[in-house]
Amino acid sequence: MKWSTSHEVFVPDLDDEHKEIFEAVANIRRALAADTPLADLCTLTNRLAACAVDHFAHEERLMRAARYTSLRWHKQQHDGVRRQVSQFAARIEAGDRAAGLELVEYLSTWLANHTAVADRMMGAFLRNARLRLGKVIFHAGTRPLDSCEWVSAKGDKFTPRVVKKSR
Ligand SMILES: [Fe+2]
Ligand SMILES: [Fe+2]
Repeated sequence: MKWSTSHEVFVPDLDDEHKEIFEAVANIRRALAADTPLADLCTLTNRLAACAVDHFAHEERLMRAARYTSLRWHKQQHDGVRRQVSQFAARIEAGDRAAGLELVEYLSTWLANHTAVADRMMGAFLRNARLRLGKVIFHAGTRPLDSCEWVSAKGDKFTPRVVKKSR
């Protein structure tokens, strides 16, 4: 399964990350078909897991920064996949090649559904929130710096100054 415009969520950074994840899944599918040695298969699986984990964290930072109302529901879906992927990775590492195919099939279906519904809803919210983000950043200033992405009202990323709370 390849990324196509039907998977677009219209947030360019996130679309790029989705393409990477689809590509990582396709690489595993190809490796399985070519009977690639287990060590190489593990490398590919770990790369996919790392891509997915980074991507989910990125989406969750954006949703937090924008105060997305369905964050909890969306994050629960990510949590399920994080668990599944690490279980599949452990099985593959133990030499179970069938787990590789199961992983590919599971993720292909999950990605198509999740990007089409949950990520699209989030993308629409983030685009609408863009103009309000200046305000969101002000409110988010009391949170740990790594809990959200700092984006100006124009949508440019920046590193905020640490402002001490006055008592
Ligand atoms: Fe997502
Ligand atoms: Fe996503």
